[in-house]
Amino acid sequence: MAMPSREQSLALLEAWVTNQNLRKHMLAVEAAMRAYAKVYGGDLDSWGQAGLLHDFDYERYPDPTDHPFKGVAELQRRGYPSEFCAIILAHAPHTHEPRDTPAKQCIFAVDELTGFIVAVALVRPSKKLADVTVQSVVKKLKDKAFARPVNREEIQKGAAELNLPLETHIQHVLAALQSIAPQLGL
Ligand SMILES: [Fe+2]
Repeated sequence: MAMPSREQSLALLEAWVTNQNLRKHMLAVEAAMRAYAKVYGGDLDSWGQAGLLHDFDYERYPDPTDHPFKGVAELQRRGYPSEFCAIILAHAPHTHEPRDTPAKQCIFAVDELTGFIVAVALVRPSKKLADVTVQSVVKKLKDKAFARPVNREEIQKGAAELNLPLETHIQHVLAALQSIAPQLGL
C-alpha cells in the first residue's frame, strides 16, 4: 500500500486534534524533520509526515501507556508503512523504540527543541521567530528557571546522537521554524 499523502495526514491531524497549540507543535516538528531530511538525504515526505503526526493521538490518549501506541495502531490500520510508524514511536523514549536511523534520531532531537525555541520567541518583545538567535536559545537553555518543563537533557542528548554541536542543531531547527513562522503565528 502506498504511503498516504500529506493532505491525508493533515486531514487526520485536524480530525483528531482541536488544540491549536498542539497542531502548531506538530507543524513545527514537521518543518524541522523536512529540514533534516535534506541534511541526511532522507525522504522529505515521510520524514515530514512523521513530524506532522507524531503527537496526533495525544489529545485523545494522553496517558503514556496509550500515547503514541494508540496512534500508531490507527496509522497501521490506515496503511502507513511500519518504518514510518517506527519513526513516530522513536520520538518518545518511554516506547523504548531504538533510535537506530537518522529519522528516528532526528524526531527525538527536534521534539523538545521546537517547543523551547517557540518559548524563546514568545519572550522577545516582538514575539517573532525572526528575532530569535542561536545565542539567545543557548543562553535560555542555561537559565533553569526559563521554560522549566522543557527537558534540557533530551535536547543535549538529541544533538549528541546526531553528532552535531548543540549550536548547529539549534541553527537547523531555528531556520526550519523561521521558514514557517506565519503558520506558527510567530
Ligand atoms: Fe511532540
